Amino acid sequence: MIGMIILSMNEFKENAERLSIGVKADIIYLSKRVFPDGELLVKISEPMKVRGENLVIYHKAYPNQNERLIELIQILDVVRDYGVNSIKLIIPYLPYARQDKRFLEGECITLKAILKILNQYDVDELITIDVHSEESVRKYFKARFTNLSALTEIAKCIVDKYFRGEKPVLISPDEGGYHRVKQVSEELNLNSTFIEKKRSRFTGEIKHRLVEWNSKWRNVIVLDDIISTGGTVSKLAPLLKEMGVEKMVVGATHLLMLGKAEESILKSGYLDIVGSNTIESKYSKVSTEELIIDELRKR
Ligand code: R5P
Repeated sequence: MIGMIILSMNEFKENAERLSIGVKADIIYLSKRVFPDGELLVKISEPMKVRGENLVIYHKAYPNQNERLIELIQILDVVRDYGVNSIKLIIPYLPYARQDKRFLEGECITLKAILKILNQYDVDELITIDVHSEESVRKYFKARFTNLSALTEIAKCIVDKYFRGEKPVLISPDEGGYHRVKQVSEELNLNSTFIEKKRSRFTGEIKHRLVEWNSKWRNVIVLDDIISTGGTVSKLAPLLKEMGVEKMVVGATHLLMLGKAEESILKSGYLDIVGSNTIESKYSKVSTEELIIDELRKR
């Protein structure tokens, strides 16, 4: 393993400490001032220590993604000023990644805009967890890109708690996310399928349609990358019940849990919601630091 130093905002101390213990690396912290007009100023506690080093920047970019991205720009800028050797950037939940295409004429491709900044600062490697579309990141990010997945651990946690000795079916609520679910189903030796989802770009209205279904399926785990408003999974629930499903649980890596997400998911009939700590919530049951440590140890 090559020598590395972890760099993190004070606010992510708990996560950064776990990483530093796991990979036996020192940590340098960054602090932040917020001026009366709302502008931010990031400061490295020991700037001379980064010169010539291989830095692993750990940055949780959600919630407050707009602020977090400004911080990130400043972090990249200042470490380059101090002559860092290489930069691995870990952003567990990459915000702005869902807008990876120009869905409507005139819109910005926000993922591209964010990745351009990282390219500009010559980030040597980007590590994310269950990013919305790996393919799109690869299209716009120039250097090495590693996307880890927390979904196997999430599914295992659900099986342990709700489906011991049973074989639940893993469901992706849209075709785009099926590759993630398929991988988990192969690792855990479970059946899987996906549901066709159509969302209006104008109203946000969601419509689901079954593609492949076995009438004997009674227990399901719906697995997704993100729970935002909860609309995708809660609107799927009546269809699953109609198909004879009796026990269903939702697993998702990034729990944004906006508005009435929690209430609408649980009211729609799911027994529980299980997610990771990429975004902290009361449903964050799976820590992602181990995944990152295993990956960094490979270097
Ligand atoms: C969309 O393609 C994503 O994979 C998620 O299904 C979606 O972002 C979830 O959003 P919401 O909870 O608002 O339906």
